[in-house]
Amino acid sequence: MNTKASTDDFFASIAAKSDSGALRGDYTHADERFVVAQNWDAYTPQQHQLWRRLYERQARLIPGRACDVFVESLNALDVSDGIPRFDRTTEALFKATGWELVAVPGLVPDQTFFEHLANRRFPVTVWLREEHEFDYIVEPDVFHDFFGHVPLLFNPIFAEHLQEYGKGGLKALKLDGLAFLARLYWYTIEFGLIQSPEGLRVYGAGILSSGGEIEYCLTNPAPRRIPFNVERVMRTLYKIDSYQETYFVIQDFQQLFNDTAPDFTALYQKLKACDALPADTLLPAETNLIVA
Ligand code: PHE
Ligand code: FE
Repeated sequence: MNTKASTDDFFASIAAKSDSGALRGDYTHADERFVVAQNWDAYTPQQHQLWRRLYERQARLIPGRACDVFVESLNALDVSDGIPRFDRTTEALFKATGWELVAVPGLVPDQTFFEHLANRRFPVTVWLREEHEFDYIVEPDVFHDFFGHVPLLFNPIFAEHLQEYGKGGLKALKLDGLAFLARLYWYTIEFGLIQSPEGLRVYGAGILSSGGEIEYCLTNPAPRRIPFNVERVMRTLYKIDSYQETYFVIQDFQQLFNDTAPDFTALYQKLKACDALPADTLLPAETNLIVA
């Protein structure tokens, strides 16, 4: 159903939501899947230099904070030198888990996004933020998309899960369950924490690509850290313009896979009938994991 009409809806809804009334990327050369050429040669030396600085800052924060699979895959990727070539990474990634990277101008319609994931294609934004956005950026750029998301795609269970998520997204569109599935993505793929024998670790891309939240989420006493539960996550609202008020903690990626495997049809029905919880909720029965 990737019709001209749904594409027009996408741009209309973006225009209504954002101040500038437009997305930042150049969508004029995108094909019907919103894919573009990365055009790697067009990046300037200044942009590669900015990537290196973003990478260095983040790489210094990673040890002891990111989960092991992230650290290992990031190192193997060898992308500290400048904005990576997506085709080079795809070669290694395809061998590891059968995923490919596709270049996109920026955010894409939900349907398109889910179709990519369901087919093991991960959309990566081509443009890099500007100097004044070093610490904070509104729309995802190539640094967030690549640094934050790509390393975990090398993990077979995570890779499997993300494909299932994509299929689940296409299904949720038909069941009017998108709001719930979006919360699941937010609190796992973007802002998830994972338990390790050495303590809490980060696997969410929104945290891994953030200079401030990566420390905050693990040690600041203010936010809640609650054991992951699908229904609880799907009921919980989130903020997009501040650090999270609640983090959900998985035991391992197998748990994420297993807990999201059941058919969500009945769950969506149930959730539609109950109120959403504010982002800072702690229910009476819940334990807030204490951090050092
Ligand atoms: N099990 C979900 C459903 O039936 C699909 C899904 C899988 C969603 C994995 C998210 C993650 O709708
Ligand atoms: Fe992201």
